Amino acid sequence: MTEYQVLARKWRPTKFSDVKGQDHVVRTLKNSILNNRVASAYLFSGSRGVGKTSVARLLAKAVCCHDLQDGEPCNKCSSCVEITNSSSMDIQEIDGASNNGVDNIREIRDNIMYPPVSSKYKIYIIDEVHMLSTSAFNALLKTLEEPPSHGIFIFATTEPHKVPSTIVSRCQFFDFKRLSVENIVATLESIAQKENITAPKQAMSSIAREARGSLRDSLSILDQVISFAGNNFSADDVKNILGLVDRNIIFAIARAVTENNHKECITFARRLFNEAYDVKKITDTLVEVFRELMFVKNGLGDMLAEELPDYEIKETKDIASKTTAADVEQWFYMANNTAEEIKFSPYPWILFEASLITMCNKPQNTSIDELVKRLNSAPNLSSPSDQPLIEKKNTVAPPQQKKAYKDLNWDELLSAVGKADSDAADILSKGKFLGIEQERNFVVDYSEAVEFINKFTDKTLQLIQDTIYELYGTIYKIDIRSNILMQRMSDNEKRRKGLLDKDVVKSAVEILNAKVKEVKLY
Ligand SMILES: Nc1ncnc2c1ncn2[C@@H]1O[C@H](COP(=O)(O)OP(=O)(O)OP(=O)(O)O)[C@@H](O)[C@H]1O
Ligand SMILES: [Mg+2]
Ligand SMILES: [Zn+2]
Repeated sequence: MTEYQVLARKWRPTKFSDVKGQDHVVRTLKNSILNNRVASAYLFSGSRGVGKTSVARLLAKAVCCHDLQDGEPCNKCSSCVEITNSSSMDIQEIDGASNNGVDNIREIRDNIMYPPVSSKYKIYIIDEVHMLSTSAFNALLKTLEEPPSHGIFIFATTEPHKVPSTIVSRCQFFDFKRLSVENIVATLESIAQKENITAPKQAMSSIAREARGSLRDSLSILDQVISFAGNNFSADDVKNILGLVDRNIIFAIARAVTENNHKECITFARRLFNEAYDVKKITDTLVEVFRELMFVKNGLGDMLAEELPDYEIKETKDIASKTTAADVEQWFYMANNTAEEIKFSPYPWILFEASLITMCNKPQNTSIDELVKRLNSAPNLSSPSDQPLIEKKNTVAPPQQKKAYKDLNWDELLSAVGKADSDAADILSKGKFLGIEQERNFVVDYSEAVEFINKFTDKTLQLIQDTIYELYGTIYKIDIRSNILMQRMSDNEKRRKGLLDKDVVKSAVEILNAKVKEVKLY
């Protein structure tokens, strides 16, 4: 009986055309091989199991092949066979993680200077190159600066940011992409066909999604599923073996949340509980689903095509069409908090159910735009400069005749303030009245008398405010400004402050008895 070879190894690409999802890399490499423009150092970056080592070997094979076929290695000549069997003296694969010292690199540096034994090139493939020590990188740098004409380095890394820029800049850099779910499913299906494996698309989709962009992981999962369920397996087998949550139920829960349907949510939660699913995985999946809904609501639905099978995109779009972006965003964060809390909760299922109920009790997450609309259409609020929003509760008598602020007379104000408190009038007189901003701010500029800004006390401000009210019947916030002060407030702060100071926002906060948690600027 032949020994079982894991699928990932068995189906390692033997030609560039077998490499999936890295067309940009493969095309460039093939062209440079065909045009004899081979570089002396390459850096392959990308997450695990996306083809870096496979392509490095293919590149080595192709540049040494005695019978190159349209840029592809023949896999038959002595050189190709040696590389396939890892028996070539000239092509060395080195694990950078365990050979990361300066001595390891010095040895390589010395060896690469000798001409190859039987191949055209001497090639070092160094995996996980980011693990090299600083002195090892320095030792490498010298060789990279003056490489022998027969020497080629191919570095691979999952963490390119840890590779010094001096090294990166001396390499041809290739960024390997994670594979899309669609691409992984297609690859799994084609391998399954050759291996006499039969499984429905949904089963393959579950495997592909679980692999998170890594083709090797998808093949390892396929190995695992086959060893439990045999060559003929169902979507349920995959779910059971991997402990996966049925995403259809999670979609149904998300839909119930958006419809504020408590009963349905809890019914589904009970079902999942009875079927002994892992509540952590459930909440994680719920977070994923709300993330996908956020994508759709923010015009990024097309980007999901790489991650989700068609029927899930359809479902996501359908749920999204019945709700708002703001609500989805809030549900996402609620689900995310739940997922976080559940990790530490002694009663995760209770927390999960309670969270679903909270999510169904959709908070009044009305957008500012909507609030503005609502408040503008409300009586009494349409013209705040004519009608004070906040009823004055102190003893100041209301004015007989109200004047609009246009009629505000600075001298008249100064003398009225002076009657009550000459010091206050003196301080006020040093400023320059700039006008009313945002309908409620009485702006006085002290750019030329900054030393007086500190003299304002709460009492002075109150007095000025009261006097204005007496004279003109409107309550203003006294806004003291100076160039220096203004400069200190960053642009964003100003905008934030401006938004918070808007009457509609203030009224909204008051009417809804809410708190502004954050002001987001776009
Ligand atoms: N792009 C791909 N096209 C075809 N098969 C692939 C691809 N990526 C990975 N594989 C499959 O996964 C196996 C492992 O891939 P490979 O060793 O090239 O990944 P890697 O990017 O070097 O991963 P790691 O960072 O973990 O070293 C291959 O033998 C092959 O079966
Ligand atoms: Mg590798
Ligand atoms: Zn060959």
